[in-house]
Amino acid sequence: MHMKKMSRPELFDFEGISMVPYFTDNWENVQKFQARPDDILIATYPKAGTTWVSYILDLLYFGNMEPERQTSVPIYLRVPFLEMTIPELPTGVELADKLPTTPRLIKTHLPVQLVPKSFWEQNCRVVYVARNAKDNVVSYYHFERMNIIQPEPGDWNTYLQTFMSGKNVFGPWYDHVCGFWEKKQTYSNIHYMLFEDMVEDTGREVERLCSFLGLSTSAEERERITQGAHFDAMKQNKMTNYSTLPIMDLKISPFMRKGKVGDWKNHFTVAQNEQFDEHYKRRMKNTTLRLRTEI
Ligand code: A3P
Repeated sequence: MHMKKMSRPELFDFEGISMVPYFTDNWENVQKFQARPDDILIATYPKAGTTWVSYILDLLYFGNMEPERQTSVPIYLRVPFLEMTIPELPTGVELADKLPTTPRLIKTHLPVQLVPKSFWEQNCRVVYVARNAKDNVVSYYHFERMNIIQPEPGDWNTYLQTFMSGKNVFGPWYDHVCGFWEKKQTYSNIHYMLFEDMVEDTGREVERLCSFLGLSTSAEERERITQGAHFDAMKQNKMTNYSTLPIMDLKISPFMRKGKVGDWKNHFTVAQNEQFDEHYKRRMKNTTLRLRTEI
């Protein structure tokens, strides 16, 4: 597939959130999206481990379907990205509406206040994944370098300042992770996962996920899924490594980049770390959410 020449988008303010048109141009259809009670919404801030959890969910529900599906349908078609609309590709809404399988697994990066209301009305299950801010910003920086539908990130220090100010695509990380954390108080059908827990013990997290979903998957099956969704396996797998999506230049930085907790230490200077910690403390002072920057 060849994409028409696309240029880097400019950020603009959308309902108080920095956005690019690729995630807002289809807004009317996104907003009125009709969720079904058995839909599962995978909600994350970008680069928190969306693809990892999406693939685990896909294997849990559809891993035993015909083998062609596993070898020929990339993850971004199995788990549509609801708000995405890029030229020459079906929109996320169209893909979701056409999904042949039940439950539908649907991905979104929208902050909690912009999630289409039918997901809440239908009491859909929501799987949220949060990742510590330092590794999240590093991953997002490399992602913006290689992805034509994201704005130019500038150099590392510039990008770090952008991230702290919250003027990057999908808005402030701080409000995103806290928004879904607070939502849990009033909406119990959210399973709030942490990237760091997944790295520490994927098997345990898959088991917890299964109990949230009410799935009685055997220990052997869970082990098979944990292995299939291992970083090395997903990096080799063309259906999960995004090598089939031409908006990304994987030569600049691979989608499956490192998959580690603590890579921020290779990026932050001592001064940047102090500045970040200071800002973080202020920004997160009202939440009980705790994230680990090392394990
Ligand atoms: P890094 O850039 O730090 O390597 P998302 O899917 O939300 O875009 O998140 C992408 C990040 O999750 C990348 O982080 C990627 O390497 C990491 N990731 C994806 N699959 C993973 C896996 N199976 N194990 C560990 N990390 C994984």
